[in-house]
Parts: sequence; C-alpha cells; structure tokens
Amino acid sequence: PVVNSSLKTGYHFQPPRNWMNDPNGPMYYNGIYHLFYQYNPKGAVWGNIVWAHSISTDMINWIPLEPAIYPSKPFDINGTWSGSATIHPGNKPAIMYTGIDGAGRQLQNVAFPKDLSDPYLREWTKPDYNPVIFPSGVNASAFRDPTTAWLGPDGHWRVTVGSKRSKRGMAYLYRSRDFVRWTKAKHPLHSSKDTGMWECPDFFPVAPAGKLGLDTSARGKGLKYVFKVSLDLTRFDYYTVGRYDLARDRYVPDNTSPDNNTGLRFDYGNFYASKTFFDPAKQRRILWGWSNESDIAQNETTKGWAGIQAIPRILWLDSNQRQVVQWPIEELESLRTKQAYIHDKLVKSGHYFEVKGIQTSQADVEVTFDVSSLEKAESFNHTWTDPQKLCGLKDAEVRGGVGPFGLLVLASAKMEEKTAVFFRVFKAQNKHVVLMCHDPKRSSLVPRVYEPTFAGFVDIDIANTKRISLRSLIDNSVVESFGAGGKTCITSRVYPTLAVGPDAHLFVFNNGLEDIKVSELKAWEIRRPLMNGD
Ligand code: FRU
Repeated sequence: PVVNSSLKTGYHFQPPRNWMNDPNGPMYYNGIYHLFYQYNPKGAVWGNIVWAHSISTDMINWIPLEPAIYPSKPFDINGTWSGSATIHPGNKPAIMYTGIDGAGRQLQNVAFPKDLSDPYLREWTKPDYNPVIFPSGVNASAFRDPTTAWLGPDGHWRVTVGSKRSKRGMAYLYRSRDFVRWTKAKHPLHSSKDTGMWECPDFFPVAPAGKLGLDTSARGKGLKYVFKVSLDLTRFDYYTVGRYDLARDRYVPDNTSPDNNTGLRFDYGNFYASKTFFDPAKQRRILWGWSNESDIAQNETTKGWAGIQAIPRILWLDSNQRQVVQWPIEELESLRTKQAYIHDKLVKSGHYFEVKGIQTSQADVEVTFDVSSLEKAESFNHTWTDPQKLCGLKDAEVRGGVGPFGLLVLASAKMEEKTAVFFRVFKAQNKHVVLMCHDPKRSSLVPRVYEPTFAGFVDIDIANTKRISLRSLIDNSVVESFGAGGKTCITSRVYPTLAVGPDAHLFVFNNGLEDIKVSELKAWEIRRPLMNGD
C-alpha cells in the first residue's frame, strides 16, 4: 500500500504502515523492552489481527521483529486479540491472550518463548493444551483481554478477564497453581452496573507515597491499587484508586473515586486500551495507551497507516492518594535538540506572542504560568460536572476572567489553523476550580467528522500555588499534554493542512481579563528516533 507520510508522527510509536490498535504484553526481559501490538499486516483498517512485535533498549528507539503471535491453531484461527505478559519466577516470560476460535468464541490462551536464550524472544510457542480458559458460564462474545497475572498469598496465580453480564461490566477472576489449569472464582474481582463491556482491564498495586513502581504481585500493608477498564460504550479508559481485599479476593474502590463512566481518566482525550507493566530495571510502572486516528475513515485507507501509541508514561499515586500522576519517560529527553527559552514574560489580557527559533511541528514544550490574582475568576456553576462539555461551551475563543491562557500549537502563521491547549480558573463556593482543555475546533481547514474538545479538571489548590505548569508533546498529528506536573493529561489527534513541518508555529496566548506571566518556557525540537525500520 502507498503511505502518505506528511502527517505521520515522528517520535510516537508507530509501524511503517497499516493499522495498529491496542498495546499488548509490554514487558522487560534481560535488558530489552518488548512491545507487542494489535496489527493488521494487510491494510490500514482493523482486521486480520496479529501480535506485531518490536524491541527497544529505551522505549524510544524501536526495532521491528516478525509477528510473535498470529492465527494458526483451532483456538485462535479467527483472531489473536489483546493480552498481557507475566514474568514467572526464574525470569520466565509468559503471555496470555484472547484467541477467537472457529465458532467465533473468545478464549484465553497462553504462549511461551520458544527459546529463552534468544535475547529478542522472537518466536513464541502456543501449547496444544490451549485454550486454558474456556468461556463456560460467561458470554463467549464478550470475554477477553486477560491482565498480567499476580501471585496470591496462597501461591496461586490470579488473572482477570474483561466481560459483561447483560449491561453490567465485569472483571472475572481466575486462579491457577500452574498457569495451565484455571478455575473461575465465585465472585468477579470487580463489576459495575450499566457500564457495558469492560475491555482491557488492568489491575496493579501502587506505593502509598513516592514515584517508585511495584511488581504486580507485590504485597504489603498500606498499598493502594489501581483498577482500570476501557469502556466500549464511551471508548474511554476509566480508573479508580482503591484497595485489594485479599481475604475475599476483591477490589474495593475508595469512596473518593467515582466508580462509573464519569470517573477518573488516565487521559481525558483520545487514549484507549491502555496497559501498564512494571519495569524492574528502573523500578517504575509504565503506562502504554493507543491513540486512534480521528480523521475521516476514508483518509485512513488513503494515508496507508492508522493508529499510534502515546509516549510511554511513568505512573504513580498522587500524594493526595485520590488519583494517579503521569509523566513521559525520561528517555524521551534524549531526543531533545535545539531549544527556545523564555522567562518572566508578561502576557497581558487579550495578548499573545510567538515562540520563535525552533521548528515546532515535532517539539516538547514545558511552561510555567504565574497567576498572581484570581480576583476576576468567573464563577463556577455547580451543574458543570462534565469538563468536556464545559470546554465545548467555553472554548479558547470565549473570553474569560482568569484564562483561557495557554499554548496554540500546530498553528499556521496567520492562525487559520491552531489547536489550543489551555487552562481556565473558576471561583466556586470556597475553592477555585481549574479546567484544562484541548480545543482543536480550528485545527484543520479541512472539515472533519470528529474534532471534539477534550477536558479534565485539575485537582490543585491554585489560590495557594499561584502557578500552574503545562507540558505538551507536539508530533505532526498528535498533541499530548500534561497539566500540573501530570495530574491531568489530554491527547488529541489533529490534521493541519498549513501548519505542517517548517510551517507549524507555536504561540502563547491569554484570552482572560487578568494578566498572566510566563515565568519560564522551554521548548525543544525533537528529532526522530529509530522507529520500526521506517
Ligand atoms: C480493544 C479491543 C479489545 C480486543 C482488541 C481486538 O480495542 O477491542 O477488546 O481484544 O481490541 O483487536
């Protein structure tokens, strides 16, 4: 197929051509990071799914290998769908994935490296005793995406599989001593009414304080847990923070986390089917997530490629223990080249300025805004519970009190095209509410089918901090933003026609009544890493 590379991302994980969706089985083994992913070898639309395989020493430069798992046996002849890796004692990796059999049933299968002495683990064996988990007593067309397994205090493995019972979202729990014979637990690990099919569940412990990650089987007093699902209903990932009741083998969300489809999100934008893994080399938990095209479907075929992975993020529990915090892995910084630097620059009400001197179509921007006065903040209406709707109502063009202020990225010289990344501060009863938005309504001169504003609230006490930071990773057709040090993250796909390559501009704007100050802004050009042989 012909590939149009003009808006292809430069440093986000992507195959040279064709369709990609979920990240699968991310893991670290003997100095090498592995990423598998749902891939169509034959085209730029979903279909013919195999587990494509890439390896890396830094999760930034990637070398492609042959697909590791592909339909070949009765238990996966109609598809090799998503799954996870588990490192067994003795440093032996195992994969559990969903196979689609001849009758279209969703089954869970295991696969093991053919040769543990191959440093790249190129070939994987699927034993003939598969499937190891058959959909008995469950809906065989809604039973998929096994998690990384964890060891219980009784020495038995546990794994959860996403499902639904009628409209109730479910994470079924299975136990096994040997990873081969699995028994369904009487009660699911977790479930929630009216949330529909739970795709790609993820379940892992987080340390109560600090950024260090934990092995999925780690246990101990005071550990918190994160449970995440991808809701087929809304096509967004939601998580809660809670605890793991080991005696009952059930996850119990804290009452600080709304346990439904209005809950917390790792990312309030285009980010789905995410999955974490523990990186023992740097003792951190890493999050991968798929960012689908939001282009017109027909363009995906003519582009010859579709789907990217967001930059891998380290993830830890916020000190408030109510949410997680995420930050791009430090290895990304090795791609930074030319830098632009600005400090102590006042941005008066209604003003903007351009960040010059670097090419910003592929860039990493870190900025801190000082908000000295909150007096003119707009008052917050308590019915505004949906940040995305609020941002649609009060987009970047709607003047405010404190904000909207932020960045205009992938902007054309005359701003016919631009994507706004911004904050807006409101005054509520006895606190301030901070909204973070992506407004891509003017991102492209070509009318698009799907160009939603995305937004999340930022849980900070701005009256106290008087400042807020923003980091945006810009990469031709993606903008990935981290507000307040990674407390609120938003990813958007945009398709400019003018703001391309050297013609992409970066501005700082303030469309509020209150002046704000850029205390510091650093922007770097980002060079291309090795990307799957492209
Ligand atoms: C999520 C998903 C999974 C499934 C896979 C198929 O995007 O639908 O539930 O295993 O993709 O490619």
